[in-house]
Amino acid sequence: MDSKKKTNLNRKVSIAPMMDCTDRHDRFFLRLMSKNVMLYSEMVATKSAIHGDRKKILSYSPEEKPLALQVGGSDKKELSEVAKIAEDMGYDEININLGCPSKKVQKNMFGACLMREPDLVSECINEMINSCSIPVTAKTRIGFDETEEFDYLNKFINKMKAAGCKIFFLHARRAILKGLTPKQNLTIPKLNYEMVYQIKKENPNLEIIINGGISKIEEIKKHLNICDGVMIGRKVYQNPYFLVDIEREVFGQTILPTREEVAEKLIKYLEKEVKLGTKVNHIMRHTVGLYHGQIGSNKWKRYLSDNMMARDSDFQKAKHIMTIVQNNEKINQTIA
Ligand SMILES: Cc1cc2nc3c(=O)[nH]c(=O)nc-3n(C[C@H](O)[C@H](O)[C@H](O)COP(=O)(O)O)c2cc1C
Repeated sequence: MDSKKKTNLNRKVSIAPMMDCTDRHDRFFLRLMSKNVMLYSEMVATKSAIHGDRKKILSYSPEEKPLALQVGGSDKKELSEVAKIAEDMGYDEININLGCPSKKVQKNMFGACLMREPDLVSECINEMINSCSIPVTAKTRIGFDETEEFDYLNKFINKMKAAGCKIFFLHARRAILKGLTPKQNLTIPKLNYEMVYQIKKENPNLEIIINGGISKIEEIKKHLNICDGVMIGRKVYQNPYFLVDIEREVFGQTILPTREEVAEKLIKYLEKEVKLGTKVNHIMRHTVGLYHGQIGSNKWKRYLSDNMMARDSDFQKAKHIMTIVQNNEKINQTIA
């Protein structure tokens, strides 16, 4: 069975779904620096999407698009319902999480433990595909526990392909389901890019996006020689202005925002959001890395942690802080 989805979404560079990081405010902020990357939500459990406060959990600003919803679950009825909800709410893609190793996620039977259940996964994917017309994609690891074998991964992927999925995000390290914390699972299992390259070579008609430990423009370019796209998580969260390098070096853009312009647009967003009841630090916490590697970055970080994280701040304070950001930018420009 083939997916009916025809799409021209550009997944050359995607920003990885990250719990507690890539919420709608972060995505809005990232979008100010890049028009071309694809954005992903944090993982949302099927039950939350179906029964929770949908406005709170799933709403987003139109500026964030193109945007994918990442879902966690293993109940095919629930997953297909969420796929439909995602489409109705205007998401451009729905992505199933088959890579998270956390205990809680395993207990609920989603994430990386589903790599053990190729039949169930393909049924779920098939139901999702049949219930929506946006692309259904999968994000998985290259293996789990002691299993890090090309044949296993290739069969798993081909099973999902037979169910209609054609786009795969491969985090190039296995998940250790017992004994490692989620954080350790992002560093201890060794990266194995070759396995991802092999998958692409063996399945040239699939869209294969490589993920894990990518932090330099040269690395992105190297992976793009073989894979269809790269997905980047921590590097962009820690240093969001890296997106501007990506826009210039990967997408060939010449008109690029300065940090000052980013800050100015964020002020407008803050103004609007604060009036709607959003707490200032819910937005500002994502901007800690805006000045990463720049003169004044420590001052900025200290100011944020002293003033923004402690307690709720009012909008005037946020504006004051943003003025400091702008001044830092001006100082940097003067020095440069
Ligand atoms: C704080 C944090 C939260 C994450 N949450 C998710 C998640 O919700 N869904 C998911 O598929 N992966 C999640 N991941 C994994 C990332 O999507 C990505 O696969 C991983 O960080 C490796 O990419 P990187 O080396 O570029 O960061 C998370 C990673 C981090 C650091």
